[in-house]
This record gives sequence, C-alpha cells and structure tokens, in this order.
Amino acid sequence: MIEASGLARTFTTKHGTVEAVRGVDLSVAPGEIVGFLGPNGAGKSTTLRMLTTLLAPTAGAAVVAGHDLRADPAGVRRRIGYVAQGGGTDPAVPAAEELDLQARLYGVDDPAGRIAGLCARLDLEGLADRPCGALSGGQRRRLDIALGLVHGPPLVFLDEPTTGLDPQSRGNLWDHIRRMRAEDGTTVFLTTHYLDEADALCDRILIIDHGRIVAEGTPAELKRRVSGDVVTLTLAGAPLGLPAGAADMAAEAEAAGAVGGDAVARARAALSRHPAVREATVTGGTLRLTVDDGDQALMGLVRALDAAGVELESLHLARPSLDDVFLTVTGRSLRDAA
Ligand SMILES: Nc1ncnc2c1ncn2[C@@H]1O[C@H](COP(=O)(O)OP(=O)(O)OP(=O)(O)O)[C@@H](O)[C@H]1O
Ligand SMILES: [Mg+2]
Repeated sequence: MIEASGLARTFTTKHGTVEAVRGVDLSVAPGEIVGFLGPNGAGKSTTLRMLTTLLAPTAGAAVVAGHDLRADPAGVRRRIGYVAQGGGTDPAVPAAEELDLQARLYGVDDPAGRIAGLCARLDLEGLADRPCGALSGGQRRRLDIALGLVHGPPLVFLDEPTTGLDPQSRGNLWDHIRRMRAEDGTTVFLTTHYLDEADALCDRILIIDHGRIVAEGTPAELKRRVSGDVVTLTLAGAPLGLPAGAADMAAEAEAAGAVGGDAVARARAALSRHPAVREATVTGGTLRLTVDDGDQALMGLVRALDAAGVELESLHLARPSLDDVFLTVTGRSLRDAA
C-alpha cells in the first residue's frame, strides 16, 4: 500500500537548513495498522505530509495506494484519507456542513447516507448541527477522522489521532480505528508519541528519530530486541515479593537460610543447562532469568526445576516495555525527548 525509498526533506530557514527527514524507506502492506513513533521534531508529520502529496520531497520516491507520488499526485489524493495533526475544521461551520462539503468535493455517491453511516460509527450522532468550535476535543477529533474517511479511502493517514484526549476517549478512538480496518479493510498509517498507543493498536511500529528510522518491527519483536523476557522464580520457602536483584542483606540472608543453599544450587545447575536461558542471577531464594521467548520457555523451565526436585513458590514473566526499546535504540527516554 505504501512503498517509499530514500524519502528526504530539507527546509531552508533564516537560520540555516533543517534536515527534517533524512532518507526514510518504508513499506506498508494492505490492511496493516502501522505506527510511526518518535519524539517531537523527529520528522513524523513531515514524512506524512510528503506521503500525502502536501509537501514535495527533496529526494526519494514513493508509490502510495498504487500511484506514484511525483508522477501522479492527484491519483494518490483520490485514494487516501488524511487527518492532520491539528485537524482542519472551521470552528464557525457546523459539523454537518464540513462533512457535506468534503463528500461533495470527492464526488461521493449518496453523501447523506455515507455521512449518516460515518456519524453512527464514530459516535457523532446528534452533534451534526453544532459548529465545530463547540465540540469537545474528543468529538472534534472523531469529526476530523470522519472527514478523512468520507470518500471511503483504502489508505488513511492519521497524524497523532489521540493527542490531547482523555484515556477513555483515546480507548474509544482506538476501537474506531480497529473497526475501520476490520470492517472495511482500511490500511492505517498513524503517528504517535504514545508507546502504549503504538503497542495497543499497531501491527508494526517504525521508530523515527532525527529524521531517520532507527528501529522497526512488531511491538513484540521490538521488545524482544531489548534484552529478552525476564522470568522471576521464587523458590519455596523464600519470602514472597523479594525484589529481584535488589534485596537487602537481611532478606537475602533470611531467604538463603530458609530455602537452603542446596535448593538454590540445584536450581542454578538445572537452569544453566537450559537452552532458553541467556542469563541467570540469584538473589537469596529468587532467580531472575533472561530468556529469548518467555511464553515458549516457561513450561520447559518449570519442568527442568521439577526434575531437579526444586519446589517453586511463585513464577512471574515480564516483557520489556516499548520505553525500554526506545531507550535502547536512541539512547534516551521518549519522555525526556518529548
Ligand atoms: N515548514 C518548515 N520550515 C522549517 N522547519 C520545519 C518545517 N516543518 C517542519 N520543520 C522542522 O522539521 C523537523 C521535523 O518536524 P515534524 O513536524 O516532521 O516533526 P514531528 O515528528 O511531527 O514532531 P511532533 O511530534 O512535534 O509533531 C522539526 O525540527 C521542525 O521544526
Ligand atoms: Mg507532528
């Protein structure tokens, strides 16, 4: 649905040149929801504006929704929907008029039916007569999305669809975006600062920083790239809730005494032979293991410990967060950067 190579954009300002996007390659398959994640100024909107023909690239090429960006921008525009970061409605104009105008501009058959359907789907019923300026932030964002979808495009670009919305409105909007794909097969390319949004919504994530894509993969793949999953095992007899790797001396001594060095040694021996375990640290009666794929490894680890006669009190599997991923690939936290 999108094939871009070497897309770049430089701006010339009074104070010099800004290399906003420095050679982006990307490929989006039909029906995918792809997230473009990055801090402020990373180049997300600039890339989106190039892909939607609103901004001419300084270099590079792209085919978007089957049409060449440079040779046939009108063909691209007919097949895509675009929801700008700041929206594009006139505060004085009623929502219904904005929708009607958009539908007519695109030559939609049966505009009234199409608009009624969209309003029902995006929970905009009863709001059509209000001026856009009198809608709440969440309502306006849903209207922006309805405007981007009026002509039923197979590909839609959403620039920060949920920024500024409360958690419930964000969740609702995520549902709408999922339904867009499930019911119409719409391909969605969206930008976001929110790691949880990218994680919850996207099949695939591209992380952009300083105009370059620095990492790409499914949310699960990206998290696995960081350090693997972490399995924490507490041996029977050890105090529950002992913080792995940070136990104070008293807890450690107590745990070692209660569990017995023997059980710990047996557990260590059984796990050191296990192929899934990349790294193991022992704190008192708690073992912290780094494994490649926690879901896969878990049963095998339990069986190995069982065979070695080690009894377990508790078992916990944790995955690194996208925050960890961002920190690993960019060297800074997304929150700091934003
Ligand atoms: N018209 C312009 N003239 C000069 N510089 C620009 C222009 N548009 C964007 N830039 C610069 O390009 C860089 C990338 O901007 P862009 O809007 O693509 O970032 P973004 O990732 O969308 O950020 P945000 O999360 O804040 O929306 C920034 O440094 C920005 O100041
Ligand atoms: Mg932006």
